[in-house]
Amino acid sequence: MLNRLDIAIATTCCGVGFWLIAAGCVPQDRQPVRGKTKAADTGYQVGVDATLLEEGRQTYAIYCVGCHGENGDGKGPAAAVMHPKPRDFTNAKFKFSSRRNGDLPTDRNLFDTITNGLKGTAMPPWKLLPERQRWSLVAYLKTFSDKWELYDVAPVIPVVEDPYAASPDKSEAIARGAAVYHGLAQCWTCHPAYAARDRINAYHEAMGLPRREFFRENLDNAVARISTDDSVVFVPDFRRDLLRAGTSVEVLYRSIAAGITGTAMPTWVDSIETQSNAGDQITTRGDLWALAYYVQSLTEQRPPLLAAADITIRDREMIVSQDDWVAKIGDSLRSEMGGDDDEEEEEEEEE
Ligand code: HEC
Ligand code: HEC
Repeated sequence: MLNRLDIAIATTCCGVGFWLIAAGCVPQDRQPVRGKTKAADTGYQVGVDATLLEEGRQTYAIYCVGCHGENGDGKGPAAAVMHPKPRDFTNAKFKFSSRRNGDLPTDRNLFDTITNGLKGTAMPPWKLLPERQRWSLVAYLKTFSDKWELYDVAPVIPVVEDPYAASPDKSEAIARGAAVYHGLAQCWTCHPAYAARDRINAYHEAMGLPRREFFRENLDNAVARISTDDSVVFVPDFRRDLLRAGTSVEVLYRSIAAGITGTAMPTWVDSIETQSNAGDQITTRGDLWALAYYVQSLTEQRPPLLAAADITIRDREMIVSQDDWVAKIGDSLRSEMGGDDDEEEEEEEEE
């Protein structure tokens, strides 16, 4: 049976194979130089220097085209078996951003994603490419969508002061985060609950919220959600799954506050400040930090994984030769590529 892990192996190896083969197929006639309507300091595409764009085009053709496709539409030859799929740059929906869910990210966000990769997906880190080349990629991938010229510049999310920064012991932050996670914010409608129902109701009552009578089934499991591109995303279980963008509190603050564009993950920075009917402040933006510390503490509880293959794949360090891989899971992969989506989804949910 092909589980999610095997798909990860398959996609990674296959990705590497394909993108090397497919290198060099970006059409030469693309005209990357676009409008100059947005201010340079906002991070939107402006009159970028043509040499940089040309460098980006060439770099893209070597390293990115096999997965993201020559037209930037995410349909590179290696994309077929990947989950999640490589990003389609033509609709400019970028997930990991310091702007709100739905807004375009900053150049720095894209640069950081390219540098660090996205853990738990096929998107590799590109730390080894010289910095200038990574910036050239940022400039180049913005040529795939007109949104970079057409959209108004959106503000970045405010980063409020971390109320817990000075205390070496983060247990207060973590306890507060657990209360907000299970109480007001109800993150467990998509992510798992890490507390029993009674405890969740105790959190509710402590915040002056009504008790809940009904809870979704399998409360301690995450649910699957449909993204705007119709793909299914498995909402992370923080005690088990790798987080794409990283687990520093700064990055977690950003993911939670800004939300994740194109997915069900909402922007929290605008809805986290709430008052009771009596006018008492129940939660503030400082609680975004508490949530970040709490989520981080959950990721630290990830149990050691039992199978060696699990550990290495999750850490993206295993180098399996193409032959090993074919011998191991080639047959099941071939049937998978036959396109039985439902089966794949079911199996991934079971994992
Ligand atoms: C082996 C396949 C693979 C290669 C090669 C690859 N990517 Fe990706 N990339 C992915 C996948 C898969 C995702 C989507 C991950 C997700 O949805 O969480 C992604 C997502 C992205 C994103 C979106 C980040 C966001 O916030 O939504 C950017 C930007 C990106 N890749 C840039 C690049 C660049 C630039 C290169 C070449 C230097 C590259 N990728 C090479 C697989 C790949
Ligand atoms: C309506 C559903 C929904 C709710 C409610 C929700 N999330 Fe999410 N969350 C998602 C989805 C979907 C993803 C996965 C996005 C992806 O990887 O494509 C996600 C991803 C995340 C990530 C991972 C970012 C990464 O780098 O991989 C964090 C952290 C997170 N959520 C925190 C929270 C917190 C804290 C709350 C409550 C304050 C919350 N979420 C509420 C749907 C939700």
